[in-house]
This record gives sequence, structure tokens and C-alpha cells, in this order.
Amino acid sequence: MTSISLSPTTFDGVDLPDLQQQSASIRDCIQEEDVALLRGWISRAAVDGAMDRLRSGFSLENDTKLDHKSRVTDPRDIPNYQRLMLGEFGATETERSFFVRMFYNPLWNGDQWGLHDTFRRMIRLRNALYDVAPDHCLEAPQNSTYTLSRVHQYPRGGGFLAAHRDTVAAGVPESTGLNGYIQVLLVMSEKGRDFHTGGGYYVKHGERILYEEFTQPGDVLVYNGQTLHGVETVDPQEETNLASAHGRYSATVTLYQPRRGVMKMG
Ligand SMILES: [Fe+2]
Repeated sequence: MTSISLSPTTFDGVDLPDLQQQSASIRDCIQEEDVALLRGWISRAAVDGAMDRLRSGFSLENDTKLDHKSRVTDPRDIPNYQRLMLGEFGATETERSFFVRMFYNPLWNGDQWGLHDTFRRMIRLRNALYDVAPDHCLEAPQNSTYTLSRVHQYPRGGGFLAAHRDTVAAGVPESTGLNGYIQVLLVMSEKGRDFHTGGGYYVKHGERILYEEFTQPGDVLVYNGQTLHGVETVDPQEETNLASAHGRYSATVTLYQPRRGVMKMG
């Protein structure tokens, strides 16, 4: 009987001088295995510090249902905002279904959680994996494309994200001439401490791999448009409390484009 390794290949100690060279091996790994894990690219201390600020500054009062990023034609008009998302969507079968709170924090706005340097490192990694210039969509939008830097909170007591592949986001790099699609996801919480059951997963060989079983805050999971992934209900037995900042957290720096109109470049 052959045993199949379900945990991802881990790249430990990736650093700036080697990034270009190592990104080729990481790309090969994702091509082959759909996921890869990077340890050491983002420091745990940076993530823990940002989490302290997120939790201490959190207020239910800041929740909005408005999706500002869909209401602007120029991404530079997107404010920092906190959006509560709970629902099921789709024309026939379910396309999207979630209970999550998003904290949008574009790099041209204030650095309210001290996360901008972390976002910049994630963007540099993303760009290396796309094999584009290190500063591509780093500080500001480029043409109609921008980096949607954000934090996701899946609250204890029901936070979840139905299994899906990133088909919408995957259309953006393709439309701008980039090869393939890469998602770079920062693990920000620790299973066993911040939550106890459920959490982020990807599906491999028909099995859910709950990756926070073996990750730690600061680890970066990289996957592609083929990777089926989601968030299994976080602590479903716990009380659902929208006023609390507790739960399972992650962050992404996805390439995005405004949904409405054509952006006018100044
Ligand atoms: Fe996704």
C-alpha cells in the first residue's frame, strides 16, 4: 500500500536574496501539488502584533453591509472598511456561501493595524510567483488592477466559507496577461488557542486537509485556481457573538479590478 502525503511541501526560511530562485521551485511545487507552505517569510511576531491591534481596536459599530470596492471606479477611492458577510448566493446551484467579516485595508490608506509591511512582503512574494516586477501593484493601482489587501475573520460560533475554487479572482491576472493564478494566504491564528474545531482547508485526493492542524501564525499557504478550498465551520458549538473579535483569521493580497466602469488613470 502506498501512502500519500496530504500535508503540503514546506519551504522553510525563504528570504529576499533567494526569492527569485526559490519562487521557481515553489511554482513547480504548486503546479504539481496545487498547494505549498512557506515558513519564515512573514514573522510570527508581526502577525501577533497586528492581531493584538485588530482585537483591541475592534468594534461591532464599524460593521457595514456596503461593499465599497464595488461602488467605485477608481480603486484609490476604496476606504478602509469592515464588512460583515453572511449569506448564500448563486443563480442556480450555490456559487458563494459564507459567514465572514472582512477588514479591507488598501496600502494607500492608513496602516491601522500595523500590517502594511506584512502586506508588502506578501505582495513581493505574490509578484515573484507571478514572475512580474517586485513592485507590481505594490503601493498603488496599476492601470485597472490593484491589490485588495485584507484580513478575514471567521467568527467562533459559525464562521465558514463553502468549498470553492477562486474562479472570479483567477480571471484578473489572466485578463492582464499574467500566467495562471496564485493565491497567497497568510495564516493569522492558531488552532487550539484561538479556535478549536474547523478552520481553513483544501481538498486533496478527496480529503479535507485542515491546514491549521500543522501551521502557525506567520505561515503562508500558496495555492492556485485549481485548488478546492474553504473554511470548515469554526467552533459551531460556541455562542455566536458578533460583538466579539474572536475566531479564525487569515489575510490575502489578491489582484483585483473594479467591477463597474473603466478606471480613469490620471
Ligand atoms: Fe477562495
